[in-house]
Amino acid sequence: MVAKTVLILGIESSCDDTAAAVIQDGVILSNVVAGQKVHQKYGGVVPELASRAHQQHIIPVVDTALKEAGVDRKDLNAIAFTQGPGLLGSLLVGSSFAKTLSYSLDIPLIPVNHMQGHVLAHFIKEKEGENKQPEFPFLCLTVSGGHSQIVLVKSHGNMEVIGETIDDAAGEAFDKAAKILGLPYPGGPLIDKYAQSGDPLAFEFAEPKIEGYNFSFSGMKTSFLYFIREKMDNNPNFMEENRDDICASIQHAIVSFLMKKLKRAARETGIKEIAIAGGVSANSGLRKVVQEHAEKFGWNVYIPKMAYCTDNAAMIAITGYYKYLKGEFAGLDITPKARMQV
Ligand code: KG4
Ligand code: ZN
Repeated sequence: MVAKTVLILGIESSCDDTAAAVIQDGVILSNVVAGQKVHQKYGGVVPELASRAHQQHIIPVVDTALKEAGVDRKDLNAIAFTQGPGLLGSLLVGSSFAKTLSYSLDIPLIPVNHMQGHVLAHFIKEKEGENKQPEFPFLCLTVSGGHSQIVLVKSHGNMEVIGETIDDAAGEAFDKAAKILGLPYPGGPLIDKYAQSGDPLAFEFAEPKIEGYNFSFSGMKTSFLYFIREKMDNNPNFMEENRDDICASIQHAIVSFLMKKLKRAARETGIKEIAIAGGVSANSGLRKVVQEHAEKFGWNVYIPKMAYCTDNAAMIAITGYYKYLKGEFAGLDITPKARMQV
């Protein structure tokens, strides 16, 4: 191993994915994620089951990430881990593991904000010399199962949330709509799949009225629920007969609302460097419409590779890398936080 390179191990355990990744000078060497199928039948993540599964997965996941990277743990320069936001029991597994490893290897420990991680996923390089990265300042629409934010990103470590959801997150809106349709958790990817053969204008759902760059999704969910109930009262086969159109229409409503706010933020800030991030940025409808807006408004858009949309540790490792360069380390007394601002 060449001495001047910086090797970071990233560990992510904020929700229901146990993940580890190794990054060398910003270039990805390995990216391992173990999901948890145990939550599917409950229609959402069960925190106690999530932390137990993290405990089972963490050692094999880290071990695999090191092996796939061809890296001996003694060559690591630092351990980056998700400090929050997330489920406390889940965060505790990753943070305890990271602390132990940094202590035993006598290397720095770097706490990472999960939401910053989603944004900085855009800086992960697949190979050396790659440089399609957003220029500062840029706007990032970060949409996941727990958050919906428009972030003004001024530098790797300086971000300001200029808009956010006042209730449900965009991913939650997808998942709750899916649950109403009887689809398993997480329903977002299934809505996306069925939407591809449906008509997005088949059914209309009222757009929430909310100030500034903020979002609200709980009203949309309620109107969706009432809509389905009413239709089912008239025709018990309504859901089966119209599944694709229903999925396309609710996806269209969610994506249009997200884009309306993003467009407004871009117009009012004059920023044309536009990124999307988080689990919902995997949505094909959102990816397509962002691309269309790029052509229409002269935006430079940054759409993450699928593997870096949903939770992963490469985004934690890359954030850790930039913090490493600035010497932003933590002591062993650092604690995970369920709530954390960007
Ligand atoms: O970022 P993420 O993996 O975890 C959190 O930090 O929350 O996001 C998970 C969310 C879930 O709500 C899931 O349904 C949603 O992202 N999601 C999608 C798609 N893929 C994942 N939503 C819509 N379309 C997709 N293709
Ligand atoms: Zn996430």
